[in-house]
Amino acid sequence: MDDTSGKKILVIDDEIYIRDSVMGFLEDYGFEVFEAENGRIGLERFNEVEPDLVLCDLRMPEMDGLEVLGNVVEKNSKIPIIIVSGAGNISDTVEALRLGAWDYIIKPIQDMNVLYHAVNKAFERSGLIEQKYQYQKDLEKANAELKISLETLERARDQLVQSEKMAALGGLVAGVAHEINTPVGVGVTAASFLDAKTKEFKKVYSSGELKRSELENYLQTVEEVSNSVLINMERAAELISSFKQVAVDQSSENRRIFNLNEYINEILLSLRPRYKKTGHTITVKCDEDIEINSFPGAFSQILNNLIMNSLVHGFKEINNGEISINISKDKDTIVFVYKDDGAGMEEKQQEKAFDPFYTTMRGKGGTGLGMSIVFNLVTQKLNGGIDLQSSPGNGVCFTMKFPENWKDN
Ligand SMILES: Nc1ncnc2c1ncn2[C@@H]1O[C@H](COP(=O)(O)OP(=O)(O)OP(=O)(O)O)[C@@H](O)[C@H]1O
Ligand SMILES: [Mg+2]
Repeated sequence: MDDTSGKKILVIDDEIYIRDSVMGFLEDYGFEVFEAENGRIGLERFNEVEPDLVLCDLRMPEMDGLEVLGNVVEKNSKIPIIIVSGAGNISDTVEALRLGAWDYIIKPIQDMNVLYHAVNKAFERSGLIEQKYQYQKDLEKANAELKISLETLERARDQLVQSEKMAALGGLVAGVAHEINTPVGVGVTAASFLDAKTKEFKKVYSSGELKRSELENYLQTVEEVSNSVLINMERAAELISSFKQVAVDQSSENRRIFNLNEYINEILLSLRPRYKKTGHTITVKCDEDIEINSFPGAFSQILNNLIMNSLVHGFKEINNGEISINISKDKDTIVFVYKDDGAGMEEKQQEKAFDPFYTTMRGKGGTGLGMSIVFNLVTQKLNGGIDLQSSPGNGVCFTMKFPENWKDN
């Protein structure tokens, strides 16, 4: 028998010579054995010593074996109980097995090996049950830990997405400053030119020697310069309002109805500083009257990532790359095709492109989150799908499809 030390067995029987012989036999095997002379005392002892196995007679004064069995099973169904009963009690024995007894031995026990095998088998089985129970508990624990890790990961991902968004917003602000600089600069130059001309004009006027031609010249200058100031200030105002919309959309989660063509062009305007000084071009083909009810911020983030990827990865060794954006409507579905004619991706890169943290620019500024954010935005925010086609040297083609009207699920 396996290790028996420390294992406790309770023997409940009203016949003293049975108890004695069974106890002596089991003690020889190293068990710690306890006895009780009837069912009632047996139950008391059971509660006291918490045995690992119970041997129990059926016919006993005060409380019979079936009642003991019922109580023990109710208390702890994992404790093996072996019925030891006279040959005349077969129907009770069957009832005991039905109630949860593990095994039975017929009295008088002529061959102690029978007892040995019954006890051994019961311990083997209870060991297996305990093992299974332990595995199950371990599994539940591991599951709970996994759930916590998953939640932590989801939180970390949300934070990363948030910081990625903020970084894009930072880039946008830098772009705004840069782009507005030009019209404002022209405006300032024109206004100071007008200021100098007016001072000169005032001098001539106060000397009393102003000629008609000089007055006409001055008026002409005022007209031209103020016109230029007006055009440039209008341009600045226009830039500010579109940047403002893109920035607000990018930092908020708002859903609204907007014109897709106009909005794409506003986003491109805000991205222009990033590619203006390169030889790359972006062309957009979009039906002018596609109005959609969706999340504009998501579009701005998607385009931002796709365009930055074309510039950084696709056009790494190309000076005049071409990006084309083609948007069409098929019934209620918007089909958004984004292409570049850059380096493209190998099969293995394509398989991983949407995985978070996959990047071929590790250590050179890439976090590998861009495409996974695009994937999540298209599938989760826009309720659509995205497909990538590419081959080395032939650029990339992303086809996104999503409903024109976002619906609450
Ligand atoms: N237009 C493209 N042309 C070629 N390769 C691309 C293109 N877009 C993405 N890739 C490849 O897919 C990888 C994953 O892109 P993703 O935008 O997720 O990460 P990243 O650009 O490397 O880093 P991050 O966007 O987080 O700064 C890139 O590292 C690049 O190898
Ligand atoms: Mg990227």
